[in-house]
Amino acid sequence: MQEIHALARACDALGYVVEDELATVLYLMLRLEKPLLLEGNPGVGKTEVAQIMAAYLETDLIRLQCYEGLDAHAALYEWNYQKQLLAIKINEQSGLHAEEQEARIFGEAYLLKRPLLQAITAPDRAPVLLIDEVDRADEEFEAFLLELLSAYQISIPEMGTIRATHKPVVILTSNRTRELSDALKRRCLYHWVDYPPFERELKIIHKHLPDIDDELATRLVRFVEQLRTMRLDKAPGIAETIDWARSLLALGATRFEEPYVSRSLGAVLKSDADIRAVREHGVEALLESTR
Ligand SMILES: Nc1ncnc2c1ncn2[C@@H]1O[C@H](COP(=O)(O)OP(=O)(O)O)[C@@H](O)[C@H]1O
Ligand SMILES: [Mg+2]
Repeated sequence: MQEIHALARACDALGYVVEDELATVLYLMLRLEKPLLLEGNPGVGKTEVAQIMAAYLETDLIRLQCYEGLDAHAALYEWNYQKQLLAIKINEQSGLHAEEQEARIFGEAYLLKRPLLQAITAPDRAPVLLIDEVDRADEEFEAFLLELLSAYQISIPEMGTIRATHKPVVILTSNRTRELSDALKRRCLYHWVDYPPFERELKIIHKHLPDIDDELATRLVRFVEQLRTMRLDKAPGIAETIDWARSLLALGATRFEEPYVSRSLGAVLKSDADIRAVREHGVEALLESTR
């Protein structure tokens, strides 16, 4: 337990507020050398966890941003065709056998390493590998990840199996736009990152904006909490709370009042329908409820 508290304190010192459950699962991730899957709504701090862990471990962060159509090549490696062609041209005169030629140009020197391969071939120390928004990738890609997640190795047809020199610390995130496979979940520890309770969100705001007025921050966080209970298209995450606070300070607001609040709604709400819904509900009424 002491180690878990120490980990939480270290993250706190690096600017990230961690609650006990998250600190525990981070500790287990490191102890068991098991990947961690973080799920939650957008803007709740999932990606930032990987950044903080890299800072905590004083190691590199290697990030793979997932998207629809992402395939093994873009994630793992590509052959450097230009370099290969050039080598073939240069070797033309050398009278090398075709097999020798081939063996040469399908060697490591001709490989362009993409994030996953970079992560398992890191020379000095284990990096943090962030596989961000894995729910955006296709199911085939998810299946392709399984070998890496369970055995920390990858198979390249022309080169055979490459084992990790150092097991990377693997963090996957998902905004839960679709359900991930059981096979993937089974290989990972799991944590649902929820919207923070009031006190913690206030603390996060103060961490990011140490000079903010406490009363302004308090009322702003309460307001955002109200917004999250409304049926909006895009409920604001912590990212939006921070952006809004920053916007109000930039506008010179010293108190959480009109007209600053109405004018800066675009920092916290990201669709026309949501802004209209809030205006129809009445900004004044919402403001009143934060007093
Ligand atoms: N617990 C926290 N402590 C400090 N900052 C946080 C915390 N949670 C979220 N943030 C901040 O909120 C913002 C959004 O976080 P991010 O990791 O991008 O969210 P997600 O990946 O879940 O969409 C970042 O600026 C991050 O620093
Ligand atoms: Mg993210």
